[in-house]
Amino acid sequence: MRSIVIPPELKGRDFISTQDWTVEELETLFILAERLKRAKKAGERTPLLPDKTLYMIFFDASTRTRNSFETGITQLGGHGIYLSPDRMQISHGENAKDTANVLSRYGDGIAIRHCTYGEGNAYIRDVAEQAGIPVLSMQDDFYHPCQILADYMTIRERFADTRGLKIGVAWTSAPNYVRPISVPQSLVLMMPRFGLQVTLAYPPEFRLMPEIEEQARANAEAAGTEFRVTHTFEEAFEDADIVVPKSWGPLVHTRDAAEGLRLIEEYPGWRCDAEHIALGKEHLIYMHPLPADRGREVTDEVIDGPHSVVYDEAENRLHVQKALMALVM
Ligand code: CP
Repeated sequence: MRSIVIPPELKGRDFISTQDWTVEELETLFILAERLKRAKKAGERTPLLPDKTLYMIFFDASTRTRNSFETGITQLGGHGIYLSPDRMQISHGENAKDTANVLSRYGDGIAIRHCTYGEGNAYIRDVAEQAGIPVLSMQDDFYHPCQILADYMTIRERFADTRGLKIGVAWTSAPNYVRPISVPQSLVLMMPRFGLQVTLAYPPEFRLMPEIEEQARANAEAAGTEFRVTHTFEEAFEDADIVVPKSWGPLVHTRDAAEGLRLIEEYPGWRCDAEHIALGKEHLIYMHPLPADRGREVTDEVIDGPHSVVYDEAENRLHVQKALMALVM
């Protein structure tokens, strides 16, 4: 294979929301991710970041994000350091400024997951303001940008032209904990920018932040496509090419966790099964960022069935994040 050339324009950039990057910049990232995926499949080494260090601060648990970032930086010839705030001086009150400045003197990138509602995005933006090296979001309370990059890469692999495809983003009932709203928010923001029509379905208490829905509408209008909201689960599936049924918390409606869990139990019928999948087009793909609450959010028949692309989606986290790190670090 020919050697990979990294365009220099994006070096040093932060990545906190896809909204901060132009469609052309995101396109550059996807082309590189596809190239890196082909290289990996061919057994070609891609040491694009030799001796570079990425600090990964996790305020919240992770399986996919941690392992895809850490594996990704290793495959690029660099090194990832897993950091847990309870083992850092953050636990004794060290602020974002001091953490950001110190890590910037040592390494080459800081990645953060902080999903506490009302805190996460503000903290990551604070670190980014202070850091002299790129800051990457590994998910916050508003956005999960790397997940949505992987989702769109997976869609591109299945459909030659993504313009005009219908994607249904539907809330599902999963009672074990109150999940962040960052995945649906990032989906409705980015997908219209690539020409997809988005139908967002949720019970009224599970609305997204009004400014995000407004921005999604503006993005759709600018791209000549559509963003619509419904309170009927089935509408997300009808005639859809792609569906992403997943749970999130009623965080815009209430911050009370007990009330949130009670509201989730109010809508047990919001669960994806084979009858819902049959409402979509024959080629419909079922997506979920994982972890999924099997049996409550989705039946095994669907998530393990022929429409499901959940493992491709999880794999693509590795490829898009390698592209991201190579571009900005
Ligand atoms: N989809 C996702 O972000 O998975 P993890 O929470 O396991 O990182």
